[in-house]
Amino acid sequence: MKTPNDRTSQASQQDELVDFLRQLPKAELHVHIEGTLEPELMFTLAERNGVSLPYRNVAELRAAYDFQDLGSFLELYYAGAQVLITKQDFYDMTWAYLQRAHEDGIVHTEIMFDPQTHTRRGIALETVFAGIADALRDAHRRWGLSSRMILSFLRDLSEQDAFITLNKALPLRQEYGDLWTAIGLDSAELGNLPEKFVHVFAQCAHLGFRLVAHAGEEGPAEYVHNALDVLHVERIDHGVRSEEDPALLHRIIDNRIPMTVCPLSNIRLGVFPSMADHSVVRLLRRGATVTLNSDDPAYFGGYLVDNFLACVTELGLTRDECRQLARNSIQASFLPDDAKQALLSAQTAEQAYQHNTVL
Ligand code: HPA
Ligand code: ZN
Repeated sequence: MKTPNDRTSQASQQDELVDFLRQLPKAELHVHIEGTLEPELMFTLAERNGVSLPYRNVAELRAAYDFQDLGSFLELYYAGAQVLITKQDFYDMTWAYLQRAHEDGIVHTEIMFDPQTHTRRGIALETVFAGIADALRDAHRRWGLSSRMILSFLRDLSEQDAFITLNKALPLRQEYGDLWTAIGLDSAELGNLPEKFVHVFAQCAHLGFRLVAHAGEEGPAEYVHNALDVLHVERIDHGVRSEEDPALLHRIIDNRIPMTVCPLSNIRLGVFPSMADHSVVRLLRRGATVTLNSDDPAYFGGYLVDNFLACVTELGLTRDECRQLARNSIQASFLPDDAKQALLSAQTAEQAYQHNTVL
């Protein structure tokens, strides 16, 4: 039986672990900004904009977050985004995430956003860009937290729709080109093959955008192959099903292709039956360039440090491996080399400081 003393010491060990994880300078490379909209803010915005939600209160809404798979999550996620109408709404959502990110020790973030979710409701693309970008610039001024925006196409819509979105967004590149530097592909994966977007991704590459795509989350390893070979992406979002294809996994390891893995998301969406089955630590130990990320933290029960914690407590991730993951996230980011080096040196300095204070 545990004594009160044991419990106190367990609690202080947990606090110390959280402190360690928070102070690690790290980047988040896979977070959907619409997936950071917490139920409380969703209700505030619904009220502010006169949008009615099919839930009486926050508790009822949270209780509805009982997902069977990606599809059942996406339905709620797109419904939730309907409360976002004005530039201030996009600002408030992004700012709330950035505050949380700063608390978690995130020094650089590359956020995805889904313009089609908003333009199809009649929201101007400029409103979306301006609200998000203002918050990102404020966070840079306030904390030195840098960021990039990854404009992501919804893969359940047509390639033509993606082209229309790209063409609507391009005039905004002048104003937001310092932030909007990458293109992604998300939404319902099964049946919406990477090949469907070959022309629009080729055009984006030609325009100088960096490329990423979700692949191997619900879809098989073949989708990861095709995201690499057909879309020519630099990073794979999720990619956890690559483990099913040994040749593909070797390729990913040998070519240091980063995978942005989201453990809590994968559990909530049934990609793995439980944390104990998750592949992330196996992949890391085999030499894959994995990074940890929160995906849609307001829906999946945790931000970045919560994802680290789950891997430490349930998969035996060591402190050195946490440091490795933090380094991977900076190395796999779209920052220029000098900025990466500066962040990596900050991590080394922090580590030396920690080491000395522990001694
Ligand atoms: N997968 C695919 N599309 C998404 C996700 C996800 O986890 N979150 C938001 N859009
Ligand atoms: Zn995602």
